[in-house]
Amino acid sequence: MGLTLTEKILKAHLVDGEFVKGQEIGIRIDQTLTQDATGTMAYLEYEAMGVPRVRTEKSVAYIDHNTLQSGFENADDHRFIGSVCKKHGIYFSRPGNGICHQVHLERFGIPGKTLIGSDSHTPTGGGIGMIAIGAGGLDVAVAMGGGAYYITYPKIVKVNLTGKLSPWVSAKDVILEVLRRMSVKGGVGKVIEYCGEGVKTLTVPERATITNMGAELGATTSIFPSDETTLAFLKAQDRADVWSELKADDDAVYDEQIDIDLSQLVPLAACPHSPDNVKSVNEIGKLKIDQVCIGSCTNSSYVDMMKVAHILKGKTVDPSVSLAIAPGSKQVLNMIAENGALADMIAAGARILESACGPCIGMGQSPNSKGVSLRTFNRNFEGRSGTKDGQIYLVSPEMAAVSALTGYLTDPRTLGDMPEFKLPEHFKINDNMVVPPADEADMDSVEVLRGPNIKPFPQTSPLDDSIDCQVSLKVGDNITTDHIMPAGAKILPLRSNIPAISQHCFTVCDEDFPRRAKNMGKSIIVGGSNYGQGSSREHAALAPLYLGIKAVLVKSFARIHRANLINAGILPLTFVNEADYDKINQGDEIVLADVRADVEADMSKLIVVNKTTGVEIPVLCELTGRTKDIILAGGLLDYTREQLSK
Ligand code: F3S
Repeated sequence: MGLTLTEKILKAHLVDGEFVKGQEIGIRIDQTLTQDATGTMAYLEYEAMGVPRVRTEKSVAYIDHNTLQSGFENADDHRFIGSVCKKHGIYFSRPGNGICHQVHLERFGIPGKTLIGSDSHTPTGGGIGMIAIGAGGLDVAVAMGGGAYYITYPKIVKVNLTGKLSPWVSAKDVILEVLRRMSVKGGVGKVIEYCGEGVKTLTVPERATITNMGAELGATTSIFPSDETTLAFLKAQDRADVWSELKADDDAVYDEQIDIDLSQLVPLAACPHSPDNVKSVNEIGKLKIDQVCIGSCTNSSYVDMMKVAHILKGKTVDPSVSLAIAPGSKQVLNMIAENGALADMIAAGARILESACGPCIGMGQSPNSKGVSLRTFNRNFEGRSGTKDGQIYLVSPEMAAVSALTGYLTDPRTLGDMPEFKLPEHFKINDNMVVPPADEADMDSVEVLRGPNIKPFPQTSPLDDSIDCQVSLKVGDNITTDHIMPAGAKILPLRSNIPAISQHCFTVCDEDFPRRAKNMGKSIIVGGSNYGQGSSREHAALAPLYLGIKAVLVKSFARIHRANLINAGILPLTFVNEADYDKINQGDEIVLADVRADVEADMSKLIVVNKTTGVEIPVLCELTGRTKDIILAGGLLDYTREQLSK
């Protein structure tokens, strides 16, 4: 029986476990990436492990999230990360060099390699045939230290692409169509593998748009084959030497199959407030817009920018619309500056932002209240834009640009004939914003620079014998990591200061939560289904850890957040019967008697006693050998320290 591409790469990297669906496997990690919002903590954790030099083939730290400097905190964090990188063997991509996923694809990614990144859109690397997975910062720290990364052996979905996209229909519409069909929960535990004749018609940046936003399916990752198109892209980046051909065997067996005829797709938009709330422009009808933002790791490639500039050239942005554009990397910005496309954007009235995440992470450009904002980004959760009642639609760059001119949501096909937009034969290569690490011989002389905002990793402790505490918070379904640990200009600078950042934990749902939980000392959180969906934000586990959360009991978890809870030593529990969610309320006193002994004895079914009502509630605590040991030790850091000292 032949193998899928996913299986081939996983098999080549397998270091622990067996190839059985649904079981946990450990894989060797070749490359890591971090961004600054999660990276500061990842490097504090890496330092705490005591490994002098990273053991990966390539590790890169990017500064792209919190690039606004309205106080000393960000600048101090950037300096801390830069100095840690220099000392420990990590490449440092300076602020201004671009968004981590785009720069990594352009300058560092290699087909067939494994990559984990402390950012949920790391699957962008699947666009050149990598197994690229979003993980917690601690997982990245462990991988840099030479430890394996553990995933559940995934189901593999074949997306069979046929045909060719019609003019003005784009890669964004492909992934919106997949989201429309599969939903934000549809990819959990799965790798989405793109195959078929239609693959050849998509460039690498188009493929990367699709794998990037596969994160919104909840998928482990998404991947394209590495073919002649991949070679052409790498050649244009002066990196043809890292190319190899990679594809699934003809007789590979998949768990599911989806067929998409590219020629049948139409321009689509994800409507507020979920990336799978997808409709065609016709279905949405007449929609007046206030703002357009173009950029993000999903849609800020060279060709994306060239299309936007072409549409804007010689025109003027509608006076009621604010148009902001952030090219994805210095490389792209430099190229459009040289060829005149940037001038066309500026002349049309676009506001040019630096090559960074910017408005995607709520760093500026929040829409007006109740404002309708078209964005080429990947997420439109409520409040993420910084405006609570903002109405965010996720669209292609083509639709965003034409709509900025008309002031209404507009079908880009009304533009008429489309010229051919080609990838350049040679990109402008200039890596002067990437600082290489010091030589190993010189590393001792490098000083790590710590500002006052850098506070150590919070205190952890081994799993208690019993948990006896109150429910400090009860929340509903689809709680995102933005609910748990909001981002934004005021909060992000505190990411290396857990005591301070935890004061914002869950405050979008309940302003009093941080104070209440801290006063309780120990407590648990109760939630609905898909708890923790959204980003890999590790702080969504570390802030609750600092606030004394011992367990989270929900109907179901999002994958990365569940892993982050385990890594923080917080017990992840699910209801055996979802209806029991109604039998437990905020403020109730609950007991999990002898929980340590039960976890040690591999008992997956535990009983939560609600002391307030006297009701017994069966819950599942599904931990495999390794995750069990991590929980018992009090989190991954304690576990890794134990392992390294053996
Ligand atoms: Fe940045 Fe937004 Fe991507 S925050 S990494 S551009 S999802």
